[in-house]
Amino acid sequence: MSSPSAAADPTALRACWHPVSFSAAVAGAPVAVDLLGERLVVWRDSSGAANVHSDLCIHRGTALSLGRIEGDELICPYHAWRYEKGGACVAIPQLAEPTKVPAKARIQRFASQERYGLVWVALDEPRWELPALPELDSPAWELVFCGPYTWLAESSRQVENFTDFGHFPWVHPGLLGDPERPVVPEHTVRTEEHVLHYEIVRPEAPNSGDFPVFANETSELPLRRSRYELHLPYTIALRLGWGGEEGMVYLFTSQPAGPERSIGYVVTGRNYNLEQPASVLQDFEDVIFGQDQVVVESQRPEIVPFDLADELHLKFDAVAVAYRRAMRGQGLAPQT
Ligand code: FES
Ligand SMILES: [Fe+2]
Repeated sequence: MSSPSAAADPTALRACWHPVSFSAAVAGAPVAVDLLGERLVVWRDSSGAANVHSDLCIHRGTALSLGRIEGDELICPYHAWRYEKGGACVAIPQLAEPTKVPAKARIQRFASQERYGLVWVALDEPRWELPALPELDSPAWELVFCGPYTWLAESSRQVENFTDFGHFPWVHPGLLGDPERPVVPEHTVRTEEHVLHYEIVRPEAPNSGDFPVFANETSELPLRRSRYELHLPYTIALRLGWGGEEGMVYLFTSQPAGPERSIGYVVTGRNYNLEQPASVLQDFEDVIFGQDQVVVESQRPEIVPFDLADELHLKFDAVAVAYRRAMRGQGLAPQT
């Protein structure tokens, strides 16, 4: 991997919420996930709650995600030591008295929560709450889940791509942009603590025949207003509107699996097109993310270089500039 002058700081990133899985993907068996280079196990206890632990049995370092769940206990596949959700080992079958367990026999437990159809984990005490998206909790809005999208690039590249307006006509012609209109509309970024706010209004590319996913059938080249909140480090809440009641909320969040691997999750909510099968939007996002992946995986370094002296920024790159400043300002990327 090439090394940027100022890379994201893995220690500071531990104190942030990160997605590790869609909730629906965690069912009857333990699931292994990677976060900031650590292997974790996610599993549901008998109440249905998700628990997250280090995926490493204290006995011989076996992956607990290869084991099984019985009631409220996670059982190692190697010698069947049993762990409760707090992380304590509660039974060692090889002992004459299996419940006489030494105090040191425990695994690390991490804070987790489920929200918007995702399991979120913080490896250290989290500094900030998750973004508030009441639409995604409302019965009037229908949710569609897209992804996960695993890319060989660090999460900062995956997120910055999502904030990049200049590429729409070139990477997504006919779907998100029009090569006849490459000029990026004026926009300014307001940074409040760890959240960047910005919005853009532009005529949008018409719905394509293949993907009628936007609420814009009624007029020629309607104006689409997109309001963004970028919550450091890797979560974006986007609200789309066309001037009427119809709206779409788009949550994009990236799991920093490791220094060269990110996993993107999309949760959309919409209050129109409710009968449209989820697959229409999912197929559309699969195409968009596939187009982006090729470009982003080619970027070097694989991590956004947070020093503004690296790479070349023009006025229409205002979001990338603000993102790099804010990541450093909040201590999520080192000051060099
Ligand atoms: S390695 Fe897990 S019980 Fe022995
Ligand atoms: Fe894109």
